[in-house]
Amino acid sequence: MTTAPGPLASAPETERPTIPPHVGAGNLIYRADHIPRFVRAEGSHLESADGRRYLDAEAANGTAAFGYDRTILADALRHCQDLPALPSFCESDLRLNVLHRLERLFSEATGVPGRVELDLGGAQGMETALRIAFSAVGPGTVVVFEGSFHGRSGVTSMLSASPRYRELLAAWGLEVVRLPVHDGAGCPHPDPARGGCGAACVAAVTRWGSELSGVGGTGFRRGVSAFVFESVQNVGGMAEPDHAVLKAAVDHARANGAVVIADEIFTGMHRTGPRWGFQRSGVTPDIVVASKALTNGAAALSAVWAREPLAAPETYRPGSHSSTYIGIPHALGVARAVLDRWDRWPDAESAMSDLAAAMTTRLAQLQASHPDLVEGHRAFGGTARLVLTGDHAPLLRRLCLTADPGLGLIVASTGMAPDVINIHPPLVIGANDLDAMTEVLDQSLSLLAKTLERR
Ligand SMILES: Cc1ncc(COP(=O)(O)O)c(C=O)c1O
Repeated sequence: MTTAPGPLASAPETERPTIPPHVGAGNLIYRADHIPRFVRAEGSHLESADGRRYLDAEAANGTAAFGYDRTILADALRHCQDLPALPSFCESDLRLNVLHRLERLFSEATGVPGRVELDLGGAQGMETALRIAFSAVGPGTVVVFEGSFHGRSGVTSMLSASPRYRELLAAWGLEVVRLPVHDGAGCPHPDPARGGCGAACVAAVTRWGSELSGVGGTGFRRGVSAFVFESVQNVGGMAEPDHAVLKAAVDHARANGAVVIADEIFTGMHRTGPRWGFQRSGVTPDIVVASKALTNGAAALSAVWAREPLAAPETYRPGSHSSTYIGIPHALGVARAVLDRWDRWPDAESAMSDLAAAMTTRLAQLQASHPDLVEGHRAFGGTARLVLTGDHAPLLRRLCLTADPGLGLIVASTGMAPDVINIHPPLVIGANDLDAMTEVLDQSLSLLAKTLERR
């Protein structure tokens, strides 16, 4: 007879076994010889096993809006510890409470009621959004912007701009059309009077749908079913589509019968200022997908809101989508604990204007001190981009980890924008930490200059 195993005692920290580095080599976004292993975190700071402190200026890819806060998990547990692990066909008050509160977050901004469906993470949420759109208007072509990123699943990798995401696994049957988009400075057809894109850019995103364009619109059996956009492109290097161009693209998509889907996985919950990024440009989507800041990174959960009646059971039939772990109580407990924190922060939008101003001042200092390396900068809400004069972002990101003997700095860079350092710290970051971030960036830029000189 076997007996059930008792609880395992975790190894005391001093006895941490040596784990060969190749064990985790395959699945981190950034690969390096020395990768810090983190053992604890608080606020905007992390500590690695060797006792080094790090300042996180990318907030776990934008998830940790409230910084590292152990009380979230403790609160979450209180909300769910008496619930069994409910399968996806069982209801609970906790789930209904979370869905009700989520729905208000979306409908307050769009002005119309809708339904919320939960999913496991960003990419899965985007796929659910497409399912809802296709069930309403029929499957068809999906239109996105150049530079977009919507996940790395088979279907969402087709939407993402980088071919790298599609090379190994992709839903090749999905037809995707990419519209040109520019963020101010990069525009080849600027309108000096507006200070942004000109009429040629608007024309470029509204050309599809005619007999000539090769992409069907109203009147064609296989038309465009969905237009999908990020209000600020995260992986695209914090590029913001010109508002007039975005508005024209949305209006044109609607006129051609397509469902408009906002990917707010990164931009949602004040990351770029207002609660939702689409509020920056004044467009109103039909479907919104949110994720990261809904759980502060403590659980894999996304929420897909669809205006009525897009996800009504008459067209979006029950069972069209589900997954065993959707609605697992601890994820819902985390969502409830994080929604409580958002409720306690009613003036987050004005706090984000202050944060953007505070980052702008510091990034301007960096540009003034390193004019040969820093070409520009821009901050919106809790998000900023430092634009370099060359494709130096991967190297600068690595230097930030080690340049200062007392503090490593974590920032982000992407393959799609190798000249941009993405900065998106916890939204609650304070002035002292912003100063520390600026100091490490300053040191790292000086080291970058020396490294480039030696080449
Ligand atoms: C804008 C955007 N869409 C989709 C995703 C994919 O989300 P996930 O990694 O949870 O699948 C991300 C992740 O970074 C994102 O930033």
